[in-house]
Amino acid sequence: MSIETFPEVVENGTYRIGRSVISINHENEDNPFVPGPQFYISAGNSLERISWAVSQSLPVLLVGETGVGKTLSIRHLAHMTRNGFRRVNLNGMTTVDEFVGKLMINEKGTYWINGILIEAMEAGDWLLIDEINACLPEIAFCLHSLLDDDRMIVLSEYDGRIVRPHPDFRLFASMNPNENRRYGGTKPLNEALLDRFPLTLKMDYLPFDAEVEVTMHQSGNEDRALVERMVRVAQDVREAMENEKIFSTFSTRRLIDWARMAAQFDPMEAAASTIFSKVNPFDAKVIEDILDNHF
Ligand SMILES: Nc1ncnc2c1ncn2[C@@H]1O[C@H](COP(=O)(O)OP(=O)(O)OP(=O)(O)O)[C@@H](O)[C@H]1O
Ligand SMILES: [Mg+2]
Repeated sequence: MSIETFPEVVENGTYRIGRSVISINHENEDNPFVPGPQFYISAGNSLERISWAVSQSLPVLLVGETGVGKTLSIRHLAHMTRNGFRRVNLNGMTTVDEFVGKLMINEKGTYWINGILIEAMEAGDWLLIDEINACLPEIAFCLHSLLDDDRMIVLSEYDGRIVRPHPDFRLFASMNPNENRRYGGTKPLNEALLDRFPLTLKMDYLPFDAEVEVTMHQSGNEDRALVERMVRVAQDVREAMENEKIFSTFSTRRLIDWARMAAQFDPMEAAASTIFSKVNPFDAKVIEDILDNHF
C-alpha cells in the first residue's frame, strides 16, 4: 500500500515536515487547550505549507469542501507542536461581544470580559475561525486591524487598551467554497479580508488510498474491498457535483458514517440513513444510480 505522505519528524525540540520546521512548545505541557493525539494521515502538501506559515507567524486561510480535513489538520499540528488550540464559528450567530469581549457592570462598577479572540491572543494559543465568510461586518473590521502590519486590536469599547498577540498566537480561518451556493448562509469572503491572508490554501479530498485507510480506521469497518467500493462511490458523487449534475457533495465524514453502518447492515440499507436522508430527492436519484454501478 503506498500513500504519498510527507514524513513528520520530531527531533531536537522541533517538528519538521518537508521543508518546514516548527519549534515544539515544551513549556506548554500544562495548557489544557493543547489537543490530544488523533488519527491523522498527512497526504499531499497542505500540512507542509501550513507549517511553513506557522514558522513565519503568518495567518492561513483554508478553503475546501466540508470534511476535507481543514479542522483536523490544524488540530493535529497544534498537537504535534504542543500549542493550545481553540475554535470559534463565525456563522452569523457569533457576536462581536463573544468574539472580542464585552463590558459588564456590577456593584463596583464596570469590568471587561475578554472574548475568545483576545483570550487566545493573550494566552498565545492558536485560534481557528470557522466559516469566516459568514462573519459580521464588525468582526471583519476587527480582524483587519489584527491582520494588518500593526497586528493589534484596540479595545475602544473599553479603555482603549491595545492588545498585541503573544508570540505563540496564530490565526487560522476556514471556509467552504461558495461557488454554487451549496452551503446555507455563506457568502463570498469580503475581498479586503481575503487579501489580508498571505496564504490561502485550497484543500482537496484525500487521495484514494489514504481515504480508504481513514474510512476503515474511523468506522471500524475492516472489509477493505467493501470500503474501496464505497470510496469509489464517493469519488463519483464528487465528480458529478463538480460537473454540476448535483448539488450535494460527499465528505469523508459521510463516508465514515456510511462505512460504520455498513459494517452491520447491507450497504444499500446503510446508505438510506447516512446518505439519501441528507440530500434532495433529485440528487438522491443520481447518487442511487452511481451506487447501482458499484454495488
Ligand atoms: N487527513 C486525514 N486523516 C485522518 N482523518 C481525516 C483526514 N481528513 C479528514 N479526515 C476525517 O474526516 C473528518 C472531517 O474532517 P474535518 O472536521 O477536519 O473537516 P473540515 O474540512 O474541517 O470540515 P468542515 O468544513 O465541515 O468544518 C475527520 O473527523 C476525520 O474523521
Ligand atoms: Mg471544520
